Amino acid sequence: MSVKIGENIDLGNFPLLLAPMEDVSDPPFRYVCKKNGVDMMYTEFISSEGLIRDAAKSRQKLDIFEYERPIGIQIFGSEIDHMRQAAEISAQAGPDLIDINYGCPVKNVACRGAGASLLQDIDKMVKMTKAVVDATDLPVTVKTRLGWDDSTKNVYEVAERLQDIGIKALSIHGRTRAQMYKGEADWSMIRDVKRNPRIQIPIFGNGDIDSVEKAAAWRQEYEVDGIMIGRAAIGYPWIFREVKHFFETGERLEGPTIAERVDVCRTHLTKSIEWKGPKTGIFEMRRHYANYFKGIPNFKEYRMQLVSLQSVEEINEVLADIEHNFISEVI
Ligand SMILES: Cc1cc2nc3c(=O)[nH]c(=O)nc-3n(C[C@H](O)[C@H](O)[C@H](O)COP(=O)(O)O)c2cc1C
Repeated sequence: MSVKIGENIDLGNFPLLLAPMEDVSDPPFRYVCKKNGVDMMYTEFISSEGLIRDAAKSRQKLDIFEYERPIGIQIFGSEIDHMRQAAEISAQAGPDLIDINYGCPVKNVACRGAGASLLQDIDKMVKMTKAVVDATDLPVTVKTRLGWDDSTKNVYEVAERLQDIGIKALSIHGRTRAQMYKGEADWSMIRDVKRNPRIQIPIFGNGDIDSVEKAAAWRQEYEVDGIMIGRAAIGYPWIFREVKHFFETGERLEGPTIAERVDVCRTHLTKSIEWKGPKTGIFEMRRHYANYFKGIPNFKEYRMQLVSLQSVEEINEVLADIEHNFISEVI
């Protein structure tokens, strides 16, 4: 059965979503994920205060492209009225939906009353969500965690109350705020939410999916409507096509060849330069190289070069070298 968000977003059977990731899920990265079969993507989270102040950095994060559809803009904040305004500003950028972040655990977000901190005040969370739902005709979705800490795992209640005021899908990361990223994600409460007969909206499971096997096993075990993948896609956007292929055929797709790794890395670099300009584009690409070439023996030396070179021509030469030298390696 097709998974739908609101009336118009049809994600097909068991969609795979790219998790919003600050400083990672920007347009260049989203481009390579889209090429590899992801079904829906989000921008990284955008500060409502930043949008209202018209800060250039926040504004730039609103950039979305036609080929990315369906795409959601994710916003966060602590003030209800600012979130309402941020939803209006975001809607003008033309996304397919607006997503609210109630999951971010980091101090300068959660300790300033935004992100996961709303898990400590469900009444405010409901009011904030309603303000966003009322501010736009677009579907509004939410991403959150199991609860604030072990003694307040309230996502079951959160799901019911947010559905009641009109959200159209809920993504749940199977950890509490207190856990940050530690331990293993626990999806059993996500299954409880999904099994709640009152819940009609799609429920997406998130946390720790890093292989085809796990995606298949957890799909079965936890009964979610789709899976959201974050860290495992960094430097490995092929995870989407591999999981998809397995679900469609029951067969395991071969991993990318070295030529493909180089090709996608190059595309990512090109898009990065196109969108950010040469200086920032080259600089911000540095964090990705090690991920694209994980498993290559003695990659360190190449990495040192890739993260210090200043010109795209020289970087491309190193990439050509890698391709040439490792063409027969199986990694
Ligand atoms: C570098 C990084 C940045 C993140 N930024 C965001 C964000 O902007 N918004 C959000 O909702 N979650 C953010 N997250 C959380 C992820 O969306 C996701 O919930 C988490 O990584 C667990 O999924 P995974 O195990 O598949 O990575 C971030 C995670 C990482 C690692």
